[in-house]
Amino acid sequence: MTTSTHSIDYDIKKAADQYAERIFCQSDDKCEIVSMLKADAQKRVYHDMVNYPDEFKDKPKLLHVEPWDGKKPSGPRDFLSKKTVVLPSLPQILIQIKRVINDPKSTADDLVAIINKDPKLVASVLRLANSEAFNLSATIDTPSKAVALLGVQKAGLLALGTVSFSMFKKSKIAVLELEKFWKHSIACGIIAQEIARTANLGDPEPFFVSGLLHDIGVHVIFESERSLAVELIRIANEKQISFYDAEVEVLGFNHAVLGGILSQDWELPPNLVKAAAGHHDPETIKIDIEAAVIHVADYFASALGYELGLSLVIGSLDKNALKTIGITPSQFTELIPKLRVLIDETFKTLNQD
Ligand SMILES: [Fe+2]
Repeated sequence: MTTSTHSIDYDIKKAADQYAERIFCQSDDKCEIVSMLKADAQKRVYHDMVNYPDEFKDKPKLLHVEPWDGKKPSGPRDFLSKKTVVLPSLPQILIQIKRVINDPKSTADDLVAIINKDPKLVASVLRLANSEAFNLSATIDTPSKAVALLGVQKAGLLALGTVSFSMFKKSKIAVLELEKFWKHSIACGIIAQEIARTANLGDPEPFFVSGLLHDIGVHVIFESERSLAVELIRIANEKQISFYDAEVEVLGFNHAVLGGILSQDWELPPNLVKAAAGHHDPETIKIDIEAAVIHVADYFASALGYELGLSLVIGSLDKNALKTIGITPSQFTELIPKLRVLIDETFKTLNQD
């Protein structure tokens, strides 16, 4: 290596370290898990700065967005009742799936009949069931096989997650990068599932669905109030705080509260409601396993580079969440390299046409 390439390399390394410092500036790096994730991020950012330098250039400003009118809602309910807030209406199929999950007398045939009515749902369920995230021993080529292997409850929940998530896949506006939203949600689902498996928390699949749906509140904000969304991003980046801290500062509540209300109004299963509502709430995280797992999975997903792209700062990792889950830092250390492989493999499977 010549002196000049050596010094360019040194400069990139320094820039990558500073960038990673900013990502973790609200995190306690005395925490073993945080410092492990930070070291991992330094390497990843350095690699990306060398290979994809354009990613780190300033993004063009959204010129055609009106400034936010500064009208603060009096609370989350007030926000959701605004004229600008358009919530996706519940598709009939979701109601039918919920009925099957809630009725102990439902049979596998009842669920298969519902899934089979919608070719898109069939494709999504099969793709997901065959992905690395689920690691089922046999190839699943029909919904009835998926239901037979997973059971009515788990397959029903999976179908419910798929339908709910697909409602948030379309967007009228480009402020929220949908690909990032999709990747963050899937990554969070996979991480939550693997944490649940490592901590022996029972069935891991419901945690996957909770991870998939945990940030629906973010989507609602972006879909409803574009000017507000741009303002939140501006505040988060100017003050170098997480996106959810910016929400609290501007609105007085965050997307988790919105997601909780929404999923409750839709009568989604209680584990999904708790995960969406509680994943940024320190008091809930202390006592609720769902909220604790999703909090950690959300943090891990962002720390590993599958972030929403709204603020560089990922917020803090709540130590109480680690206590609630009860897995050791060394178990997390073992998990991290496996997670990236699993997430990237799952993306590949889900992206295949
Ligand atoms: Fe969140």
